[in-house]
Amino acid sequence: MTLREEIERRRTFAIIAHPDAGKTTLTEKLLLFGGAIHVAGAVKSNKIKRGATSDFMEIERQRGISVATSVMGFEYEGVKINILDTPGHEDFAEDTYRTLTAVDSVIIVIDGAKGVETQTRRLMNVCRMRNTPVIVFINKLDRPSKDPFDLLDEVERELQIKVRPLAFPISSGPTFKGVYNLYEHNISLFTTDERLTSNAQTADFEDISSPELDALIGERYAAQLRSDVELVEGVYEEFDREAYLAGQLAPVFFGSAVNNFGVRELLECFVRIAPSPRRSTTETRTIEPDEQKLTGFIFKIHANMDPNHRDRLAFMKICSGIFERGKNYLHVPSGKQLKFSSPTAFMAEKKSIIDFAYPGDIVGLHDTGNFRIGDTFTEGEKLRFTGIPSFSPEWFRYIENADPMKFKQLAKGIDQLMDEGVAQLFTSSLNGRKIIGTVGQLQFEVIEYRLEHEYGAKCRWEPISIHKACWIESDDEAELADFKRRKHTNMAVDKHGRDVFLADTSYALALAQEKFPKIRFHFTSEW
Ligand code: G4P
Repeated sequence: MTLREEIERRRTFAIIAHPDAGKTTLTEKLLLFGGAIHVAGAVKSNKIKRGATSDFMEIERQRGISVATSVMGFEYEGVKINILDTPGHEDFAEDTYRTLTAVDSVIIVIDGAKGVETQTRRLMNVCRMRNTPVIVFINKLDRPSKDPFDLLDEVERELQIKVRPLAFPISSGPTFKGVYNLYEHNISLFTTDERLTSNAQTADFEDISSPELDALIGERYAAQLRSDVELVEGVYEEFDREAYLAGQLAPVFFGSAVNNFGVRELLECFVRIAPSPRRSTTETRTIEPDEQKLTGFIFKIHANMDPNHRDRLAFMKICSGIFERGKNYLHVPSGKQLKFSSPTAFMAEKKSIIDFAYPGDIVGLHDTGNFRIGDTFTEGEKLRFTGIPSFSPEWFRYIENADPMKFKQLAKGIDQLMDEGVAQLFTSSLNGRKIIGTVGQLQFEVIEYRLEHEYGAKCRWEPISIHKACWIESDDEAELADFKRRKHTNMAVDKHGRDVFLADTSYALALAQEKFPKIRFHFTSEW
């Protein structure tokens, strides 16, 4: 197969959802379809259940699972599908955001009874920043759900994207009859316990005015479906794939993941319309996936899974060219040539050594502590990919050394955990103290636990009252200097030496923005 053919047959995507909407269930059904797993229950939910926040064995277990399920690859009808897993717990949202930089599209799962929830909204904001194409799957139709038109309106309004249903449900809950496929003009009848590899029982209805429809689903539901379909066709424009690929239009499906209902339709449409690996941007130029030379970047690092070995696994997304085992590549940040004797690929639960990988694929690289998130690999060109953001944290604490004998261990531990992207480190300009900023509160416990268990260091937290950290810059040197002088007590630098303003309150932030119009306040920073 040529490079172009390999690229065209790849779909790399993530499933995102608010916890409990059915992400794990849908992932599992997709893997079953792909023959990547053979029994239900093989994909463990990697969510940390409520109440388990101080159960650190649980955290360790989750880390183990999340390595195993980080990337799930399988083949479906000649298409190579890579599903990138994202953590279920919202405190690990930043990890999810970074994973989204490595996908070409996403499927959003929404619980039909709950509609759009907070985490879905946040994740969609990240997709919007990158114009990532999204498909929406409205799940749990076997339970009483909101009105489908209300759901469509809600998705449009809350996720700020135009929608186009490609399927439409016939009732929900105990009276759920099935789904009318608007593009194939057939009805999939709902039965629970559907056999996983077989298709749902379908009936073709080119013309839904046919009396056969009444016989099939009953007069009342037939009448309802006719009026719903009329409304859909009247309100929504024809599905426009270009608009979908541009991230402006989301096709919507309805179903019930746990019953494996509507999943085949989703998958078949997905392989047809979802994009193959797209071009990526670097600071100097755009990279086309079919360029002959390899480029790729690291979007995730997993460290110290085995406490006896200080090894880490770095996940590289291939952006162009062919990755070959044992070949020398330039690790751009260090300028060193490196080769990998045992790069791994992921097929569902299995990890195996690979000889080649293509754009869209994710390769696991053994790392002895030299890589960071955002690092680029090339065949010589000095490139840096853009768009791997670090988000302004929302929780802050001073970190102090609680064991004077272990100063070095603590410094190393903090440094490596920051490389992994667990949290962000700021150094106060006022007193030189180290501040850890995180996206979720749970991270502090994770950091403390991991510092102790992986690095033999002890830390202590002290409170600091900060509302938000934002990166600042300005073309007006004088104004920037003036700002830094006046706000001296609230200034810090991040790991890369960039200026960060630590606003005490939202009011202080708004005031600063108003008083210093020439200063740009950034709430995300690129690594
Ligand atoms: P998540 O990864 O998005 O957090 O969700 P997950 O798939 O774990 O699903 C959350 C719960 O919703 C699970 O129940 C799952 O069985 C259920 N679920 C998923 N899809 C459907 C559906 O189409 N209909 C209905 N009725 N339920 C669905 P649980 O009780 O938390 O776990 P389990 O004991 O069933 O595994």
